Amino acid sequence: MKKIKVGIIGQGRSGRNIHRHLFECCPLLQERFDVIAVADPIKERRANTNPGANPACKHYADYKELLQNKEIELVVNACRSHKHVDIAIEAMEAGFNVVCEKPLTNRVSEVDRLLAVKEKTGKFFAVFQQARFRPLYRKIYDVIQSGVLGKIAMVKVAYNGFGRRWDWQTIQDMCAGELLNTAPHPLDQMMDLWESFGDTDPERIFAKLDCINNYGDAEDFVKVILEGKDHPIIDLEVTKECLFPTYQYQVFGENGSMVGNGETVEWKYYVPAEAGSHEVRIATMETEGRLPVYCSEQLNFYQEKWTCPPEASGFDDWGTKYYLNIYDAITKGTPIKVKLSQIRRQIAIIEECHRQNPLPKSVKVPEGTL
Ligand SMILES: NC(=O)c1ccc[n+]([C@@H]2O[C@H](COP(=O)([O-])OP(=O)(O)OC[C@H]3O[C@@H](n4cnc5c(N)ncnc54)[C@H](O)[C@@H]3O)[C@@H](O)[C@H]2O)c1
Repeated sequence: MKKIKVGIIGQGRSGRNIHRHLFECCPLLQERFDVIAVADPIKERRANTNPGANPACKHYADYKELLQNKEIELVVNACRSHKHVDIAIEAMEAGFNVVCEKPLTNRVSEVDRLLAVKEKTGKFFAVFQQARFRPLYRKIYDVIQSGVLGKIAMVKVAYNGFGRRWDWQTIQDMCAGELLNTAPHPLDQMMDLWESFGDTDPERIFAKLDCINNYGDAEDFVKVILEGKDHPIIDLEVTKECLFPTYQYQVFGENGSMVGNGETVEWKYYVPAEAGSHEVRIATMETEGRLPVYCSEQLNFYQEKWTCPPEASGFDDWGTKYYLNIYDAITKGTPIKVKLSQIRRQIAIIEECHRQNPLPKSVKVPEGTL
């Protein structure tokens, strides 16, 4: 099987611990990818520590040196978020296919600038949104599509927790904050689900962002509501102010509802054909003895439960599935599942949320920071 030769820019939490780990530790990816170069100014992070590491892997202190290595067939851009577009463009212009970490950017004009370069160079480009392949989300998607829940009124997704943070992911000028850090995962899933109800942009977006516990100046409280014709309401929360999180996913439907958390999805529904129907009644509700009474009936609910099989739970599974799709896209022309049109819609929503919530800036990032 052909192995795609990979060069990874950045050996931090993502470049080293996610991408390099996936390529060098997950058997299905070890067969398909070969990490032949990594770049990071911190020497200790570049070391070949994984059992599947190629001993000939080249180490560079700066990504510009890596881009001189023309043996590389796929560049993974795992630098920090504010440099994603510039470095991805530089890599495509240097002749490389690119997979770029999320968030691609915080502005649609930047997505379009990048897409123009992709068009001009003819290079492959994709954004790493591995949560699209999370089995829990995929199960929720499938149950919704099966129709057992009837018309879907609302999907709530909440990635809530409690914590204080003081790293670069709290700094607005580094393209950070929870809307750009954590929210791209559930937002990407919601863009996929949204599109299944019609490939149109949301008509209304409500957003409330706040910086409460972060030490930087970017938001750690995110509430977003999306609304559009023929689409369910999407209600998304990512907060660091919640010590009592409930469900990560909740689906409100005509014939039933569904919840998802951890590794389990549960859904409960009745079958309209079994339940019969009612005539609407204008006269006051009453018993046979003419006493007042509320509408009530016994619906026969069916309940189902799905638990993610142990081999498919965890981060490595999502990343493996993501890169299997990328491998097929590069080698056979298979369409990428995380479409660039969906990424563009995600960034348009993020930009609108920021427009509605300008937060004061208090952190100055030195020029040239990478
Ligand atoms: N998809 C996911 O689940 C996921 C998880 C974590 C991070 N991320 C994303 O990955 C990106 C990186 O985040 P992180 O947490 O790994 O940050 P990080 O700070 O841990 O890593 C960034 C790395 O870039 C290196 N670097 C700096 N200058 C460089 C240069 N000139 N050439 C090459 N490397 C250079 C740094 O030394 C550091 O090791 C962010 O965009 C983040 O949103 C995604």
